[in-house]
Amino acid sequence: MRRNILIASTIACTFIVALLTPSVYSVPPGTDDQIRDRLAPLGSVTRAAAVLQSAVDVSAEPLSGEAVYDQFCSVCHTAGVAGAPKFADNAVWEPRIAKGMEVLMNSTLYGINAMPARGGCIDCSDDELNNAVVYMLDAAK
Ligand code: HEC
Repeated sequence: MRRNILIASTIACTFIVALLTPSVYSVPPGTDDQIRDRLAPLGSVTRAAAVLQSAVDVSAEPLSGEAVYDQFCSVCHTAGVAGAPKFADNAVWEPRIAKGMEVLMNSTLYGINAMPARGGCIDCSDDELNNAVVYMLDAAK
């Protein structure tokens, strides 16, 4: 009889422990992947950010005068569209060169008549536009 009570209480204890176990070791909600992501070291995020930053750095390399000219200015200046002084045409550029670099850069940055501000390259830096003007003036000398 005693033995039966012992077996019964052992079964009852095991049952209670089994019932309590999930609440003691309960995990936050989410799939295994979500939990793994939450626990992932911050380093992996930092690494991804560093890779992105290096990609940005590469594209932030300033464009040469030739590159800016080819991509933006040549649209008008190669054929002389809308009265744009033609590339490498000394006679057309002579009176413009006489105005001085400061005036020419001012025209480039803010536009002049049919010439749009920044030669249409809104994303070009002042330095890149300066490179383009120097490139155009060198070709016209
Ligand atoms: C949409 C056509 C167009 C584009 C694109 C363009 N230009 Fe011009 N540009 C002109 C025209 C037209 C003039 C002549 C304006 C005038 O004096 O009436 C001109 C004149 C100039 C002058 C002489 C300004 C002066 O004061 O005499 C410079 C320098 C110049 N452009 C540089 C550039 C550069 C650098 C780019 C590219 C980043 C560029 N342009 C893109 C149309 C353009």
